[in-house]
Amino acid sequence: MSDKGAVLLTGATGGFGGEFARVLEQEGYRLLLHGRDHVRMQLTLDMLKNPKSHRVFIHELSARKGVEELLAGIADENLVGLVNNAGYGVWGGFEKKEGVAQIDVMRTDLIAPTTLSHALLPKLKRAQGFIINVSSLAGEAPLPYMSTYAAAKAGLTFWSEALRFELRGKVRVVTLAPGPSPTGFRRISGAPVGKGSFFSTPIPLIIATAIACLHQGGGYCVPGWRHRLLWLIIKLTPRSCLLAMMARYLK
Ligand SMILES: NC(=O)c1ccc[n+]([C@@H]2O[C@H](COP(=O)([O-])OP(=O)(O)OC[C@H]3O[C@@H](n4cnc5c(N)ncnc54)[C@H](OP(=O)(O)O)[C@@H]3O)[C@@H](O)[C@H]2O)c1
Repeated sequence: MSDKGAVLLTGATGGFGGEFARVLEQEGYRLLLHGRDHVRMQLTLDMLKNPKSHRVFIHELSARKGVEELLAGIADENLVGLVNNAGYGVWGGFEKKEGVAQIDVMRTDLIAPTTLSHALLPKLKRAQGFIINVSSLAGEAPLPYMSTYAAAKAGLTFWSEALRFELRGKVRVVTLAPGPSPTGFRRISGAPVGKGSFFSTPIPLIIATAIACLHQGGGYCVPGWRHRLLWLIIKLTPRSCLLAMMARYLK
């Protein structure tokens, strides 16, 4: 197995995370796999060719303590890459859901990736490495009934794009913005799962698009024609119509 260096992958126990792990291992990286759920982590390890060459870290990222413990755990590693993939949303009206749960979404989806990136940048710069931020098309439009998720992802996309500009020639930055995808995301957010969306795009295609974008030097990428069509609809629809459409879809 070639060792191109270590990559920290957060949310390695999820749908996108498992596929990122598989592809990054294939690319020759040693993985520092983060998640919370031991059983789901084992499923990810079972998919890998050389599970023993990777390390596992179990931490809650909505809490500052969890982020600090993760950073302390990987302090001895010379990182070449960081994939900020862990994230979730809370479905339901803002006033009806517990405030802490709503704020934890923003801590996990926005504060944790920015904190990890800031702390790890000196190493990533030394290695002329990369950061992949898994944002969402939810960051392109306000989402009634998932308002804090959209707010966190809008923040993540804007920060990630600005960072790419600041770090040109030093660290490659990819902002991945998928739309609906067949992972555990919707069920975990508490949203009705339903029949699935016309825009749903296969997980391998999404992760392959992010890796291709990384090979091209970084950038903002929307994977697959269905997600690109959704992106176009979001961009061309007046805000008031968009709000009504999104509310109908999510209520
Ligand atoms: N699926 C979609 O439709 C979609 C679309 C656009 C963007 N995304 C984004 O894609 C990323 C990956 O999600 P997914 O679709 O693969 O969903 P998923 O299957 O639910 O996976 C989410 C991952 O994030 C981890 N995670 C969630 N909350 C966490 C917390 N508070 N602290 C630490 N880890 C936490 C989970 O860990 P445990 O399983 O160990 O708890 C899991 O590994 C997320 O950032 C999500 O916002 C998803």
